[in-house]
Amino acid sequence: MPVYQIFIQIFEHARIKPFLCGQFGSPRFNRDMTIIITDQNTPVAQVIPLVQDERLKEILAGLAQRAGVDAATLQQDFRAEPKEGLILYPAGQPDSRLYLLGLGKKCSFSDLQAAFRSFSHRFKAKLPQNIGIDLRQFPVADIPRLTEAVLTGISLGLYEIGRRFRTGTEDKPVPEFSADHSQVTILVPSEAVFAAHPAIQRAQAFAGAAKNILDLMNAPGNFKTPLMLADWVTEQGRECGFKVRTVHVEDIEKEGLGALYAVGKGSPNPPVLLLLEYGEKSASTPVFGLVGKGITFDTGGISLKPSANMHYMKSDMGGAAAVLGAFMVAAQLKLPVRLIGAIPAAENMVDGIAVKPGDVITTYSGKTVEVTDTDAEGRLVLADALAYLLKEETPGVLIDLATLTGSIIRAIGTQAAGLFTSSDELAAALTTSGDACGERLWRMPMWEEYGSDLKSDVADLRNYTGKPMAESISAAKFLEHFTAAHPVWAHLDIAGMAFADSEFAQTKSATAYGIRLLTEFVEHWTATHSSTD
Ligand code: BES
Ligand code: MN
Ligand code: ZN
Repeated sequence: MPVYQIFIQIFEHARIKPFLCGQFGSPRFNRDMTIIITDQNTPVAQVIPLVQDERLKEILAGLAQRAGVDAATLQQDFRAEPKEGLILYPAGQPDSRLYLLGLGKKCSFSDLQAAFRSFSHRFKAKLPQNIGIDLRQFPVADIPRLTEAVLTGISLGLYEIGRRFRTGTEDKPVPEFSADHSQVTILVPSEAVFAAHPAIQRAQAFAGAAKNILDLMNAPGNFKTPLMLADWVTEQGRECGFKVRTVHVEDIEKEGLGALYAVGKGSPNPPVLLLLEYGEKSASTPVFGLVGKGITFDTGGISLKPSANMHYMKSDMGGAAAVLGAFMVAAQLKLPVRLIGAIPAAENMVDGIAVKPGDVITTYSGKTVEVTDTDAEGRLVLADALAYLLKEETPGVLIDLATLTGSIIRAIGTQAAGLFTSSDELAAALTTSGDACGERLWRMPMWEEYGSDLKSDVADLRNYTGKPMAESISAAKFLEHFTAAHPVWAHLDIAGMAFADSEFAQTKSATAYGIRLLTEFVEHWTATHSSTD
């Protein structure tokens, strides 16, 4: 039997394996968590977020009086440091609790979300079923946004990373607040009650999508092969309201997606290209193209990675996760936009039939590439996905996201993702959205000279320069060749942001970075451009 036939048979076999996508949750979360926004009284268990400003002393004095404790001592002990928590038990008032929550000096959206996520994560086992949150000290104009931050944070704090694969968890009693039918009452100034209402739906959409994406990102590679991912995305599309088309391996080969095929062919789990669509085509609807790297596991291929941290490479689909999350949120919020998405999904494995260093492949665009390093696989699959998406439709804005290089982490660490674009306008808009929601971006250079190291002697391009410098920029320059010179294209290297150390897990874990950034960018761009073309 010729080798290629065996290959196809293995792929066929993989296709009929049972998929475990049903284990992932529904995109709608905590449907039973009742949220109330009111200017009236709240439950006796109340969270009071406190900023380190000139009013702190006075507010603490009032709280001390309410609880019947000494004001000076409370002022001395509670400094409202970020995430600082202190519980007061008012004397003679059964079940009453005052949770003082520090916010630090400023109170941005992300600070508040982070404080409440931390709070609900740390206290969830002890919180009663009904809690109130007093936001009356904040400016009326900020209340809708702050309410959204609080609710998103609380919901994310209830996320349990070990929920899916640990045994024995069913026997443990579910803490009151995590259980269904818990109630959160947000206390706001009267003038803000009406305006704050949409925050409920927004927080539910964001946190719901994010928690599902956290599950997906944290899932091990054997639970999210490309085909399992395809099933999961199809299911999410059905639930949330976006279309999903799966291009299977036979068509990937037939249609000439040679780069995606080459990266996937070393694995018995075949690659897929997922095409997503939300919103109808119409002259007045702005169109955004979103492409996300979906390497479900990256061993490096024949250019094998060292083993020490290889298990983290289950997160090499962080770009895909961000794109998916944005589709889930946009569809649930019924944003007046059109999104078209492409997710190239593959497992980058070591095998006798895997692509080899030095192999020349023909990409979907027709350009040939010398694969000088099989570990630079992300740019290969993205090259095909970008070209394929653009062949079908030209979006007004094109953005790709990828956990693309270790180099971006060495350059700017874990505080921002790398932003690569030649469009100043797009750079400014994306940076503004990132700053507003705390999912920050830092712009990197894209000068032409950086592209010269990608010249190959035998093909149109090579995928790795061979030089251990400016690798994240070379990668961006490589991708540029496949964007049909789209004038409003940005590449986001999210390698340092998608999977990170946090207070919520023992080791690195998913962050759901990019969902809010993309969604808020899309909303902002739509509001400021009547048409994207
Ligand atoms: N998936 C990795 C990049 C990565 C590294 C993501 C660390 C998250 C954390 C990517 O496919 C890769 O292997 N990149 C190589 C590129 C090199 C061969 C040019 C890298 O960064 O070392
Ligand atoms: Mn790699
Ligand atoms: Zn990779």
